[in-house]
Amino acid sequence: MLTVEQNEELTKVGPGTPMGELLRRYWYPIAFEQDFDSVPTKTVRLLSEDWTLFKTPKSGRYGIVAEHCPHRSASLTYGVVHEDGIRCGYHGWKWDFDGNCLEQPAEADNQNFRDRVKQKAGKAQVMGGMVWVYVGPDPAPELPRFDVFVMDGIKDCGYATLPCNWLQIMENSVDPHHVEWLHGYYFNFMGETQGFDAPKAFQKKHLRTGFEEMEWGILKRRVLEGGSEENDDWKVGHPLVFPFYMRVGGAGIDQMQIRVPVDDTTTWKLFYSNHAPDGGQWEPQDRPVFYEYFWRDDQGRFITDYIEGQDIMAWVSQGPVTDRTQEHLGRSDAGVAMLRKMFKENMKRVANDEDPIGTVREPHDIIPLPCERDKFGAEREFAEAFITMGSMRYSPQKQGLLDLHADAWARRESKAGAGA
Ligand code: FES
Ligand SMILES: [Fe+2]
Repeated sequence: MLTVEQNEELTKVGPGTPMGELLRRYWYPIAFEQDFDSVPTKTVRLLSEDWTLFKTPKSGRYGIVAEHCPHRSASLTYGVVHEDGIRCGYHGWKWDFDGNCLEQPAEADNQNFRDRVKQKAGKAQVMGGMVWVYVGPDPAPELPRFDVFVMDGIKDCGYATLPCNWLQIMENSVDPHHVEWLHGYYFNFMGETQGFDAPKAFQKKHLRTGFEEMEWGILKRRVLEGGSEENDDWKVGHPLVFPFYMRVGGAGIDQMQIRVPVDDTTTWKLFYSNHAPDGGQWEPQDRPVFYEYFWRDDQGRFITDYIEGQDIMAWVSQGPVTDRTQEHLGRSDAGVAMLRKMFKENMKRVANDEDPIGTVREPHDIIPLPCERDKFGAEREFAEAFITMGSMRYSPQKQGLLDLHADAWARRESKAGAGA
């Protein structure tokens, strides 16, 4: 149980708050490349601040500045984009990528005045079809090239905006027991009442769970009923990647779950997957497929007949910012306690002007993350359930993904048969 102050410290993400300052040390995906196909600007909200993201017409360079113009606050999203920055639509003040004022056309030329006004600015770049931004202090760290975003395969990404604090979702990433209940027992109940077969792999009981701090966050392990410490679920595990991702996967699917803290009570939640089953064949893809997944029905009830819909019910029904003064953590919540401690320690590091965990300063090609290949000892069922009973059921390329995996299994089976 936390005090009101402790809960606020962990959940407020605005500028000047301890968590807000920590979170400003990381890069976030905030838009898709395709958002800029027909318009050069977009308003985005990140860490309780509004920003104008823009793309230059010729070089295709991305920039990000605070949305409201320092002159008299008109939105820069309705500005004119130049190769060297963005010009406010209202009176033409021009801002470069670092927020310096280059021109004030209706003013007498006055370098002093120009130098006195500065716009807040961040950094922006593209990876994996998404536009990533950094709005913290200089020098900006490298954008970490986590494996899922840069590996070869077919990419698929569902997104939704959820009305809850991002930490509720992060705490769920260090809560393995919910799988057998929410995605096992409850899913089975849904299936019985609605007449479908819920996946059996999720119903296995957890015999043992383990959490350990690692370079990128917290590695999570489990031994399930019928399994042992020799299974990938324990031997390899998968990490919560501090401070806003979880890496999952198995059965030829690799996924990064991304929780962008838009503000204290809003999270942009993405399931970014790469499909590359062993033996599978695919054509190079121009861009990842992005689509919205749904989580409330016409009556306003949560849609809980699929895996992520069940998670969303749990996250959002806790309230916009869950009241941690009323909770009762048990022994099975050891991961939650470890995560809060990690946040606390890293807020301290930032207050001492040190880099927090996961800060990358060296250029690199790829950062591999540990993740089970064999998930729950149920490869085929796991991959099918992931695609048809998760957020990917809303994907426009769902059938193509199922075919890709089915074809890979068929090839592997025929190869094994030929070798036998
Ligand atoms: S409000 Fe932007 S130039 Fe006047
Ligand atoms: Fe879940």
